Amino acid sequence: MKIGIIGAGNIGHTAARLFVQAGHDVTLSNSRGPESLRGVVTELGEKAQAGTVEEAAAFGDVVLLAVPWSKPEALPTPETVTGKIVIDAMNHYRPGFGLYDLGDSTASEETAKRLPGARLVKAFNTIWYKHLAEQGDVSKPEDQRRAIFVAGDDVDAKKIVSDLIREIGFAPVDTGSLRDGGRRQQPDTPIYNKSVTGAEARKALASV
Ligand SMILES: NC(=O)c1ccc[n+]([C@@H]2O[C@H](COP(=O)([O-])OP(=O)(O)OC[C@H]3O[C@@H](n4cnc5c(N)ncnc54)[C@H](OP(=O)(O)O)[C@@H]3O)[C@@H](O)[C@H]2O)c1
Repeated sequence: MKIGIIGAGNIGHTAARLFVQAGHDVTLSNSRGPESLRGVVTELGEKAQAGTVEEAAAFGDVVLLAVPWSKPEALPTPETVTGKIVIDAMNHYRPGFGLYDLGDSTASEETAKRLPGARLVKAFNTIWYKHLAEQGDVSKPEDQRRAIFVAGDDVDAKKIVSDLIREIGFAPVDTGSLRDGGRRQQPDTPIYNKSVTGAEARKALASV
């Protein structure tokens, strides 16, 4: 698969490494331009390249959003990702600390409003980047792997993202729709940033 990555920091860079190891091609982007990613691309090898945000978004069959929630200007233009699977790893932290008050809404519902044509799946937002780097294990049966939660309204998109999660050694666990699942897997919930297996995650979700 071709995966465009918006944001090449903790989450974007870590995910890029795992996707490349799983055999995918990635284009990473950041705020400072492709030249600033030369070292990252060299480290990741020939399946990685750098581009602008728009180039990364245009490149991907799947596009990962790994930029701060507080920087909506970092997102690609909606036209670039229309019809594409977009993974939203963002959490609605304010710069510094604390969360934005989204009222009755959730972070990924707000992202969906910003990118109305995208097939949005919320995932990778509940796992600390160091755990993402270290805890995947393709040799384990799925129920014994660390869980990564997925929420979304597009069943096929969610399946493709779930397969991607399996390929990098984790257990995808479906929390439901973008609205309900997105709420179940946002910061300050019982499953947020917890090192639980797929089996434990399903049990925990039954009580949420
Ligand atoms: N850290 C974690 O463990 C973790 C876990 C799960 C989810 N998340 C979520 O993932 C997102 C990214 O977190 P992170 O820790 O990876 O952040 P980070 O290390 O600070 O990286 C942020 C990335 O976003 C890029 N960026 C910022 N403004 C931009 C703009 N206007 N245009 C293009 N790129 C821009 C930065 O590029 P420059 O460096 O060039 O400015 C950088 O590559 C956040 O929403 C966070 O809540 C983080």
